[in-house]
Amino acid sequence: MATTPDAALASVRDALAAATTRRTPFTLASLATASADGAPRSRSVILRAWDVDRAVLGIATDARSAKVREIRADPRVALVVWDDDTQVQVRLEGRAAVLEDADERRRRWDALGTRSRRGYATLAAPGTPVDPGGTPAQDDDEAAWFGRFAWVEVAVDRVDRLDLSTDPHDRVVAERDGAGWRARRVAP
Ligand SMILES: Cc1cc2nc3c(=O)[nH]c(=O)nc-3n(C[C@H](O)[C@H](O)[C@H](O)COP(=O)(O)O)c2cc1C
Repeated sequence: MATTPDAALASVRDALAAATTRRTPFTLASLATASADGAPRSRSVILRAWDVDRAVLGIATDARSAKVREIRADPRVALVVWDDDTQVQVRLEGRAAVLEDADERRRRWDALGTRSRRGYATLAAPGTPVDPGGTPAQDDDEAAWFGRFAWVEVAVDRVDRLDLSTDPHDRVVAERDGAGWRARRVAP
């Protein structure tokens, strides 16, 4: 094996830092939550922030969305990303929380681009039926858009990195261990 388990974990940290500062294959993640009846639900989300010291990811979303309800009911989430160029999959598990701090929420909103903010212009909550032949009504009130915005933080406590570029394939699992992390190589 070319790298130590700790080096593999470090490469995940670096890749998440890169993914949240520019567009990389890891920028788009699949986020899974548990629905009210316990069934899994997953959807694509953009990873927008990565606090490497706290191992916390940031995601922008609509406060009225199903995922927010699901996270409030059961904070356990899982994410997966795949880089087709490097042939690396990273699975992340942790606990999600909707940011309540007003100043921090405003700061996250201010950092969003105009196009992203427009995504919050729809009056009806995500998933609400639209009249046949109609389009969802939107407003032009940025204060209202901000009112619909939520910032979700995922505190990662498990990382599973699978590298398909090597023969044999290489898999490293890392888990939070008190203040630190314990990484180990496992069979792929
Ligand atoms: C490429 C792509 C990126 C997306 N990024 C986000 C995102 O960052 N945040 C988000 O809430 N939804 C994002 N979505 C939409 C979600 O996949 C999903 O359709 C929506 O959030 C409603 O999900 P929910 O009803 O499970 O909450 C994205 C969809 C695609 C296709």
